[in-house]
Amino acid sequence: MSIIGQSLTRPDAARKTTGETRFLTDISVENMVHGAPVFSSIPFGKFTKIGLLLAKEVEGYIDFVSAKDIPAENQIGVIIPDQPLFADKTVRYVGDSIGLVVAKTPEAAMAASRLVKVDYVEENPYLAIDESRYATENFIHKSNLACKHRVRKGDPDSGFKEADHIFEARFKTPYQEHYYLEPQACIVIPEKDGKIKILGSLQCPFYIQKAVARVFGIATNKILVEQAPTGGAFGGKEDIPSEVCARAAVAAVKIGLPVKVVYNRRDDIQLTSKRHPFQMHYKVGVKHDGTLVAANILLEENAGAYATLSTVVSYRSAAQAMGPYVIPHIHVDSNSYYTNLPPTGAFRGFGSPQAAFGHERMMDIIADKLNMDPVEIRLKNIVKPGSETQTAQVLNESVGAEETIIKAAKQAQWDSFDPGQSGRYKHGIGISTIHYGNCLGAAGWHMDGSGVNIKISPSGDVYVAYGLVEMGQGSETVVIQMTADALGVSPNRVIVLPTDSAQVPDSGPAVASRNVVMTGNAIRNATEKLMPILKKAASELMGCDTSEIAIVEDKVTDIESGTEITFHELCDFMSKSNVSMEFTGWWHTPKLEYNAETGIGEAYFSYSFATHIAKVRVDTLTGQVFVDKIIAAHDVGKAINPAGIEGQVEGGSAQGIGWATTEDFKMDRGVVTTPNLSTYLLPTALDVAEVETIIVEKPEPEGPWGAKGIGEPSIIPTAGAIANAVSSALGIQMNEIPLTPERVLNAINGKIE
Ligand code: MOS
Repeated sequence: MSIIGQSLTRPDAARKTTGETRFLTDISVENMVHGAPVFSSIPFGKFTKIGLLLAKEVEGYIDFVSAKDIPAENQIGVIIPDQPLFADKTVRYVGDSIGLVVAKTPEAAMAASRLVKVDYVEENPYLAIDESRYATENFIHKSNLACKHRVRKGDPDSGFKEADHIFEARFKTPYQEHYYLEPQACIVIPEKDGKIKILGSLQCPFYIQKAVARVFGIATNKILVEQAPTGGAFGGKEDIPSEVCARAAVAAVKIGLPVKVVYNRRDDIQLTSKRHPFQMHYKVGVKHDGTLVAANILLEENAGAYATLSTVVSYRSAAQAMGPYVIPHIHVDSNSYYTNLPPTGAFRGFGSPQAAFGHERMMDIIADKLNMDPVEIRLKNIVKPGSETQTAQVLNESVGAEETIIKAAKQAQWDSFDPGQSGRYKHGIGISTIHYGNCLGAAGWHMDGSGVNIKISPSGDVYVAYGLVEMGQGSETVVIQMTADALGVSPNRVIVLPTDSAQVPDSGPAVASRNVVMTGNAIRNATEKLMPILKKAASELMGCDTSEIAIVEDKVTDIESGTEITFHELCDFMSKSNVSMEFTGWWHTPKLEYNAETGIGEAYFSYSFATHIAKVRVDTLTGQVFVDKIIAAHDVGKAINPAGIEGQVEGGSAQGIGWATTEDFKMDRGVVTTPNLSTYLLPTALDVAEVETIIVEKPEPEGPWGAKGIGEPSIIPTAGAIANAVSSALGIQMNEIPLTPERVLNAINGKIE
């Protein structure tokens, strides 16, 4: 039986649960010293002087590095070059980097960093999209618009004329802090030969390699990046570790000692990126029967002080703004505005959860106005094989959207849902359906390739090095399964190596739910090269034709005679015959036809689809929302590891429940006032609903074994489903999250903001 589709135990599970895994905070190297960040305490302005007198008096103080210590380019922006590594006179948010103090102990570094005295000349900060948008002078960068993307399909104006009804609504979604349990952390070691070695808690080793090489003006192969076991990332360790590592590298090279940096929680939350808050305006025209005809959609994103991954967020949210529905006329404008607030960037879904909140609230508002069932209006408009997306891309294969709706609705007993008596607690049910473009899409095609290196030892052990990473999501397990199946060996022969930039080609970023698709296809590519060599050796050893060799579950069989040897015996023979047993595999996403001006064409090569149904209870006395159940149906193409998918769906749903209900990120003039778990409420076990996962498998021809990504689709529909359920329970349209008790009570009391 194939190992694909079986629920395999995670190889890292025992080590992580027993505490055996050594995360970066547990790791020390010889002669290591410690860095602590010095950052702006004002949201916008210039600094005129840095005073080190008091800091230098701290016992153990070694040095302070800043912009003047940068060997080559003072630039860290991953897509748009708008962000100095260390501030060059101007600071643009509370947390903007001024320098790094280095000391003998972490405590001394922290104490000294707080004693660095910075003099500022303040300017009026832009603290909201509404302030940034209309600025005519004193811009944060060249202008206050960080980036924008457009979709221009059909002619909405004539579409609205054909429509029987036109509905409009505004929606708002908030910040979300990643709150990975392990904060940003790295150790940078200056090597004697001029190389710089980096061990970090990170998502994207090759981003760091490029970033540090740029800051030093040296070749990328001089920068060696190894990923340490990583305690959560969720997008928050996509580009941010590049700045953390590059600053530590400037210090390490200057003083000639390994430098370790571990952010404390307060600094981590103040300094690093978060989910973009969105303001959305939807205007949608429909027929009497609920058929979508035309839409005008404006998405506005608060990018914070630097663009970081805003272009990806703006691109993706534009391409997915109306969801997985057929609509002939649609214009979308997606604009990201700079503000003097912490930067926002990559966070599980890249703007998709925000856009999904918009289109799924809108679908329910339309259904409500037309007195239609929310499931019915979705089924009426959903994309099917042969349908065109909102970017005029024809979907032919792997279109399981409709099936996710039908299966989720059936499992939730949607048709017989009864809100019950209307007492203190009101019950509601809500549905939300989404699509998610797999991998980097047309805008990121040039870096959408990934590699693996597979090496077989004489004893038959199979070592896999891959360019993406395990950051908690369970990638090791699927890498083992896919390699074992492709080579015909048992999974316990396969050993996954830690991700190391020296071992594999640049595989792009570990983001966008890429791992299964990219790494899986690269494994297939490598094993397609290896298999003929294994079979040829086996045929020589067993004295038969290569076509008669079968390698399955560690057994090498001559099908004709039934003779059998072990995989180990074959590998031993190959080794003694001096046959190379190492191959690199590579895969890139298919070429996409796409027009960046109009936003028309193949935005992504394939889409995952999902439907979440939430059952909620609202306490009308306190305003508290209880999410009792999430039924989550996901079209994953093919489930490589069903247990892993359930884990992702439960985790994504939990994170979505937090974003929709408890997590209320607050700032005061750019200072985060919710910098810990007693003020920023992550959902606990008691807040997380029972999550029931339904796997739908519509194989993707380009996916390995038919698989598509699941990491981000798991969170994208959740908040919309919850808000739809609460709206239905209360009979009030809840168009802004989080649904905190305060917001819900205000709504009940007729005071919706
Ligand atoms: Mo994630 S938003 O794909 O880093």
